[in-house]
Amino acid sequence: PPCCKIGPSILNADLSQILSECNKLLSNGADYLHLDVMDGNFVPNLTFGHPIVKCLRPKIPQAFFDMHMMVANPEQWVEPMADAGANQYTFHIEATRDVPGLCRKIKEAGMKAGIGLKPGTPIEELLPHIDEADMILIMTVEPGFGGQSFMSHMLPKVEYLRKNYPELDIEVDGGVGLGNIQSCADAGANMIVAGTAIIGAEDQRYVISTMKETVFN
Ligand code: DX5
Ligand code: ZN
Repeated sequence: PPCCKIGPSILNADLSQILSECNKLLSNGADYLHLDVMDGNFVPNLTFGHPIVKCLRPKIPQAFFDMHMMVANPEQWVEPMADAGANQYTFHIEATRDVPGLCRKIKEAGMKAGIGLKPGTPIEELLPHIDEADMILIMTVEPGFGGQSFMSHMLPKVEYLRKNYPELDIEVDGGVGLGNIQSCADAGANMIVAGTAIIGAEDQRYVISTMKETVFN
């Protein structure tokens, strides 16, 4: 797959202005929006859920909503999220006992299915399920908070997947910025999430376009 799409995470944006934050990111070159859903259970933090997505969808009909579901019961939110207008639904492999069933449910609801791995989860747990998913998310921080340091020792997971699955969509998420995006792309990631590196920047357009220039080579 061509490298790379940039998907800003709005986690650390001004959430009182969620629509204008999304619009700003899109007009500054975001390829998609990475929306972090946390339930205070799978991770020790809370964000938002399908009601917010449902309100955003008609205001930005063209945006691709990549839902990162950091929730303990991912089966529960598939239909509400599909109904709200989500495009992709990434659950954590650590949160379900039935990966194939959940992937099927997500696809039947009309969304793309993503499988996410926390840093401590070995790639072996994923291997039986790769064909069931549309995308694999390799976390490069412990999920729960923006602004953490990038874990470069997760990149071998990406390298392994890219070597064995040349067509697979592979996303990295956590601590990615201008200083390490090249290493993500070199490892084989083709969907790059960046939160604070973009949200915290004076010039979002500059950061997003420089990220793209860095990896388009
Ligand atoms: C962490 C979230 C990430 C995070 C990215 O739990 O899944 O999407 O918001 O933010 P940065 O890029 O600041 O790590
Ligand atoms: Zn995320």
